[in-house]
Amino acid sequence: SSAQLFAGIHIMITAGPTREAIDPVRYISNHSSGKMGFAIAQAAQAMGAKVTLIAGPVELSTPDKVARTDVVSAQDMLNAVEREIDEQDIFIACAAVADYRIAAENTQKLKKKAEELSLTFTQNPDILKTVAQRKQPPFTLGFAAETNDVENYARAKLEKKQLNMIAANDVSIPGLGFNSDRNALLVITKEHTQKLAPASKSALAHELMLLVHSEYKRTHKN
Ligand code: C5P
Repeated sequence: SSAQLFAGIHIMITAGPTREAIDPVRYISNHSSGKMGFAIAQAAQAMGAKVTLIAGPVELSTPDKVARTDVVSAQDMLNAVEREIDEQDIFIACAAVADYRIAAENTQKLKKKAEELSLTFTQNPDILKTVAQRKQPPFTLGFAAETNDVENYARAKLEKKQLNMIAANDVSIPGLGFNSDRNALLVITKEHTQKLAPASKSALAHELMLLVHSEYKRTHKN
């Protein structure tokens, strides 16, 4: 049984999109539903972990016995992560964090004037990279959404961000991934690549957490 595999282990998961304000009434965001991250939170909790879920704006109910913090922007998400990262053994970055935010905050609503409007953006912090670069990082699992050359790009990301594991979903397969209840993953570590066949996000989350468990035991536990 996998019931208590993560007993005594603290796992933090980011999930959902972030929302970057354009002005007090408008924002930019993306289509992430948060379903994969919430499914992972539920699976990890069912396997005995103490789970902290940092969620962007999503329409999902909190899994049983999971501690949830809601955030809006990427900067908010980083702050929430950093507040509790010291206690974490495993960090799973499932959120679709906006790469950019508006450079200069508009404190008043933008008025419709000229035919064209330009906005200047500035890069958001990379939350996963920030966590992986800590002096004593937790075990890190990142996600990669690729449309082509999935394994190569994901492996490059694993190395560039210095992660323990990366899970790539091939968003080119229709009906899977974003906003869907089903997904398929390619799970990559330094030494291995493993395919998790198309399944419900909840079944996949369970399979994925079994892989996380064996790799975590191998690399982080004495
Ligand atoms: O570099 P890329 O955005 O493709 O990497 C995706 C992975 O990095 C995901 O695990 C995502 O949650 C994480 N990420 C993050 N903060 C960002 C951008 C991505 O944590 N600003």
